[in-house]
Amino acid sequence: MKFLPNVFSINSKIVAGQLNIADCKVSSLAKEFGTPLFIIDENDFNYRLNAWKSALERHFGAQAGSVYYASKSFISVEVAKWISSSGIGIDVCTAGELAVALAANFDPSKIELHGNNKSEIEIRAAIKAGVSKIVIDSHQEIERVNRLANEAGIIQNVLIRLTPGVEAHTHEFISTAHEDVKFGFSISSGDAAKAAQGVEQAANLRLNGVHCHIGSQIFESEGFEMAATRLIEFLSEFRDRNGRELAELDLGGGYGVAYVEGEITYDPDVAMSAIASLVKVQTTKHKLAMPVVSIEPGRAISAPTTTTLYEVGTTKNVTLDDGGIRRYIAVDGGMSDNIRPALYGAQYSAILANRTSTQSAISSRLVGKHCESGDIIIREIDLPSDIAPGDLIATPATGAYGRSMASNYNHMPRPAVIAVKDGTARLIVRRETQEDLLGLDVSEQPRTIN
Ligand code: LLP
Repeated sequence: MKFLPNVFSINSKIVAGQLNIADCKVSSLAKEFGTPLFIIDENDFNYRLNAWKSALERHFGAQAGSVYYASKSFISVEVAKWISSSGIGIDVCTAGELAVALAANFDPSKIELHGNNKSEIEIRAAIKAGVSKIVIDSHQEIERVNRLANEAGIIQNVLIRLTPGVEAHTHEFISTAHEDVKFGFSISSGDAAKAAQGVEQAANLRLNGVHCHIGSQIFESEGFEMAATRLIEFLSEFRDRNGRELAELDLGGGYGVAYVEGEITYDPDVAMSAIASLVKVQTTKHKLAMPVVSIEPGRAISAPTTTTLYEVGTTKNVTLDDGGIRRYIAVDGGMSDNIRPALYGAQYSAILANRTSTQSAISSRLVGKHCESGDIIIREIDLPSDIAPGDLIATPATGAYGRSMASNYNHMPRPAVIAVKDGTARLIVRRETQEDLLGLDVSEQPRTIN
């Protein structure tokens, strides 16, 4: 076990043997707010928002579109305010995410609506709010959005989501760009061209450009470059067919972050520099004007900013077949606040956060409190042998798809989220209570429904 500066948020450090985040001692945070607790390093979050914005602007210049923060990775009203103040946009994919952005007074002209099965209620809400773009994901949606835009008496700007068909067996890190996925229109089958023509003919839609999102936790530019190459070919074919050029290329998110030792968070400058060079070469090759390029990082902004703090409740030693010992350390959360290890085999790191230990580190398994053996946060980690009930364990880089994918399994209230900054701490999402959960239970009289 060691403190990994590349995985913890920027303002995290060990002071007198204890983890401090933004100059707040984690033991004091646990006392004040309870555990499990999501702790966001607010200055780190703002730093990453700006890093992606300036990298896009630096490498695309006048053709820099917008960074749309992928709110699915984590959003709350307070966080939406930070994003709005940074001047970047937001990608929402449900009425719920849209409602959070609007509750933060987000400028609708910087909101983009995604989703492979948007309901009419969601489309209406987005049109009413005046979102800048709706990303069309299916043939049915062309008719749906056109009709609802017509009802509202507006022309809606749209992109179409394309699957560039990058072969998964050569690039297995790409999980959403191949053909056999629920998202978007396939380029190679001609579906994408059909969709583009459909949108062109829809009186209340204006086709602004094309979008793709190739997958998540990607560390190399190659996949993005292959996808951009296919999309630019598509833009060129569209120009040849329709006699006009589409202005926008939205390349989605997916930039990887460090979760464990040895991984290095994708540098926004490195990513944008590679993609910008490729886009310039390919647009020149096809004699196209340079499009406006947008991106949608989620994890790359939110994940590294946040640490989850747990309290240890029980420990036990198990003798393995080979005679070795495995130590189970059970904390007061688990798969309800971090489903990623169970769902994707995702790896995390952890440290003993409230004190230093002089004991040797032993092979340990960090588990939660749910009634399921798969409730594992870290399958194999060396942790000090004297970790005991009452100790605090911190798992860094939990800001993306942690709280946002949290559940109430075993009727566990979802944890609070706090923001820490310059020695101050404040709640930004309060802890759920038993009353919140029990409040959903009702006992209606049976009604006849025919
Ligand atoms: N744009 C679109 C259209 C997306 O579907 C996504 C993620 C993003 C942007 C942001 O991707 P990011 O930069 O955060 O990788 N729950 C999974 C990740 C699912 C991502 C879904 N879409 C996980 O925990 O790894």
